[in-house]
Amino acid sequence: MFTASHESIVWARTHKKSKHTFNYQAMKNGDWHEKDMIKKDAKQMRSVWSIPLTKKSEKRHGKHPTQKPEALLERIVLASTNPGDTILDPFCGSGTTGVVAVRRGRKFIGIDMDAHFLHDIAARRIDDELDILKTADTVDGAPTDADKFMADIKLEVSLARS
Ligand SMILES: C[S@@+](CC[C@H](N)C(=O)[O-])C[C@H]1O[C@@H](n2cnc3c(N)ncnc32)[C@H](O)[C@@H]1O
Repeated sequence: MFTASHESIVWARTHKKSKHTFNYQAMKNGDWHEKDMIKKDAKQMRSVWSIPLTKKSEKRHGKHPTQKPEALLERIVLASTNPGDTILDPFCGSGTTGVVAVRRGRKFIGIDMDAHFLHDIAARRIDDELDILKTADTVDGAPTDADKFMADIKLEVSLARS
């Protein structure tokens, strides 16, 4: 047998008339150099991507058997959402979607049937990403993007509960 080395991604919508986001320019002109020999500069992103396996550093909080590379989710998130959007991953596993969502200014809701994946891996990875955002953006003690992000989320949660 050939070694499995591809994933098929289903891009679906609930109805023919449902609106969807496709960030054409970001796909065409983004910096996708990370070892992708298929993507050519200033040419539209093709439907076949070459992305390296999940990095060791992305597994620092433990292993998930089908953890996806952050580089893969970066493309999906940047192609199909805008900053401020809320992304739901109902099978979030090690939280790769959440890590990328936070990094790219999206809100994130993650669900998984396995509490270990959620608490020990996904939540820790997302916390790390929020810490990176905080240290990267602090200017003279002003609120950071991460602080604003958390404040927005807390407000939305309290509105939803009221
Ligand atoms: C393919 S993995 C997701 C991997 C994830 N994208 C990542 O990068 O780590 C699918 C996840 O869905 C979870 N899962 C499977 N069936 C589920 C269900 N019915 N409800 C909630 N979670 C489920 C599994 O525990 C597993 O962690």
